[in-house]
Amino acid sequence: EVSFKLADHPKLPKGKVVAQIVLDGWGEANPDQFNCIHVAQTPTMDSLKQGAPEKWRLVRAHGKAVGLPTEDDMGNSEVGHNALGAGRIFAQGAKLVDIALASGKIFDGEGFQYIKESFKDGTLHLIGLLSDGGVHSRIDQVQLLLKGASERGAKRIRLHILTDGRDVLDGSSVGFVETIENDLAQLRANGVDAQIASGGGRMNVTMDRYENDWGVVKRGWDAQVLGEAPYKFKSALEAVKTLRAEPKANDQYLPPFVIVDDSGKAVGPVLDGDAVVTFNFRADRMTMLAKALEYDDFKDFDRVRFPKIHYAGMLQYDGELKLPNKYLVSPPEIDRTSGEYLVHNGVRTFACSETVKFGHVTFFWNGNRSGYFKEDMEEYVEIPSDSGITFNAQPLMKALEIGEKARDAILSGKFDQVRVNIPNSDMVGHTGDIEATVVACKAADQAVKFDSPVPRVSGLRPIHGRHSFVGTPEPLIAKISPSKRGFVIQPVSDSDLSVHPISAYVSNKKREEPSKSEKDTSTPSRPALASRDNVPSSNSGNCVEGSKPLEKPRRFSSPASAKQRSNSVG
Ligand code: 3PG
Repeated sequence: EVSFKLADHPKLPKGKVVAQIVLDGWGEANPDQFNCIHVAQTPTMDSLKQGAPEKWRLVRAHGKAVGLPTEDDMGNSEVGHNALGAGRIFAQGAKLVDIALASGKIFDGEGFQYIKESFKDGTLHLIGLLSDGGVHSRIDQVQLLLKGASERGAKRIRLHILTDGRDVLDGSSVGFVETIENDLAQLRANGVDAQIASGGGRMNVTMDRYENDWGVVKRGWDAQVLGEAPYKFKSALEAVKTLRAEPKANDQYLPPFVIVDDSGKAVGPVLDGDAVVTFNFRADRMTMLAKALEYDDFKDFDRVRFPKIHYAGMLQYDGELKLPNKYLVSPPEIDRTSGEYLVHNGVRTFACSETVKFGHVTFFWNGNRSGYFKEDMEEYVEIPSDSGITFNAQPLMKALEIGEKARDAILSGKFDQVRVNIPNSDMVGHTGDIEATVVACKAADQAVKFDSPVPRVSGLRPIHGRHSFVGTPEPLIAKISPSKRGFVIQPVSDSDLSVHPISAYVSNKKREEPSKSEKDTSTPSRPALASRDNVPSSNSGNCVEGSKPLEKPRRFSSPASAKQRSNSVG
């Protein structure tokens, strides 16, 4: 029996609000022209950084520090949020699958035995992301799975690929398809009827998350299960090469396609009696498809046909929903997470992000579990993400809305812990668009700073007591007390309130005649929408090897160019 009771903290007094702000995709790297965090103006984070070493620390978010197989494995936000939420390191999906494949135990387990029951009369379908990114899947694991399944009796295999270009270089899909085609040819030479049956770019086909857009999953379903897609090709290599030749083509967004035989018939729809394995080990972008493949009473789109299949995930993707019911490798058992401790110790939590990262501060944070631990102690708020656009088209995303929600939650006095994910640098960074990513980083920085005006001062309740404000240039402990006109926030330390971003909360309360700048801050406003015209001029391109640098990349450049930048990004 686990005891969740915690002793009081030896130093921190009770009643403080702790804010945890995850700047998704934010990291430390060489300060060069490809480093958008470096290129962007980020005064809040820069000034927090001045607090090093006491008040600013770097944490490792890749490799073994977050449970990945090797130090060469880049971090990602599943493993990062798992580690932050649990406060401990767990061997993650990638590593567990490696171990199970290396020992061969994956083929002895209940999941594979269940799949194997279909080998005699049915087809084995493998669906997932084809790349060596190691974030959602790895091509070498797919190769081993193909080999192992064929050695254990799979006579007909169909692969449904999703091209990456998001965790790996755009354009690398061609090489991955060539690699896997070689493997399939080898299998065919050994008498196994094996080929790629369908495909599409991961952000367009199948790999949506947190129910942002079921249309993405439906496009995948139509191609993979029904064998229907707008594009038909004789081979996957021809498909990827042809679709990539379109203007502005990108691996992430390739349209769905099916492979057809000489008579034009799809070579691999999923039929009754078949087996399906979704080979991604990471959960967030497989859960929606898993529901469509598993649930009898599924209603999120019209499946048209719901084949009776034996389905297993590479891992179980949702421990609470037990989804899918069958899986090849047991997921990490991320237990006793911080969220569970908090509810058992009377600590009230507020968690918020926009849709595309909402599950990161809830589901991943809580050890890949859906739902609340204790609903009356926790409030999870999801701000709907923009849908139907790529994130470089709207790099501000919902950063300021998230910042506002966090601020309101802190000031409400209803919560002791406030955790948010500000996704801009990650989501826009993944598009490889440098100009947009620079804008995104600036927006994320602005969201951390509590300087957006308070449009609803009268709606805020005065909260007595001392509070810690994270997000100010230096952590600020302030006393909030009621006054005739509302409430007053006074720093407990000697800090000059006027230089603190939160002075906006206080300014109109503090003096009878607010100064001009105070008047300005009391007017509700948002930073101007970043137009693609008012970001620094650049040659654009991907922020990855081989792309072209910005023309004015240096952050600590001459005053003239610094001014030009500040004018240009609003
Ligand atoms: C994605 O799913 O968007 C990327 O593969 C990984 O991104 P994340 O780890 O930052 O969520």
